[in-house]
Amino acid sequence: MTRFFTTALMLTAFAIGSTIPGVAFAGDVAAGKAKFMALCVSCHGESGKGDGPTGKALAAAGQPAPRDFTVGEFKFDADKDGTPGTDADLKQVITKGALVFGGSPMMAPIQGLSDADLDNLVAFIRSLKQ
Ligand code: HEC
Repeated sequence: MTRFFTTALMLTAFAIGSTIPGVAFAGDVAAGKAKFMALCVSCHGESGKGDGPTGKALAAAGQPAPRDFTVGEFKFDADKDGTPGTDADLKQVITKGALVFGGSPMMAPIQGLSDADLDNLVAFIRSLKQ
């Protein structure tokens, strides 16, 4: 019985947290940073400016540069709701890559990320805005 109530409570808390906009419920910036440093830093750079070694090479070769996350502006409206750069958009660009949304194939689909990983990555990316 207690277990049932605990589960019900957790589900309710999750539902509330994920439906109220602006509530940073799920994203853990530190955990997102750890994933970013493992998977994204070569292009996006430690500060998120797009100045990792591969990111610089892309720009030098005339390819689209990785997005500068310190600016906090995004390009793709992946879910076509009229607003580019929502959390849902960023997560789709990360998991499906930019090419399917008309962007660079160098922003390739990143495999093997859980929903929590995506929440954490988005929280970290948002924290870089200056
Ligand atoms: C091989 C280089 C590379 C790697 C690795 C990479 N990216 Fe990117 N990323 C890019 C490039 C290039 C763009 C710009 C694409 C464009 O404008 O067409 C981009 C764009 C983005 C955008 C902007 C989307 C928008 O709507 O403006 C986000 C968010 C993003 N990357 C997140 C990530 C995350 C998170 C990771 C790691 C899990 C990652 N990227 C790994 C190269 C990379």
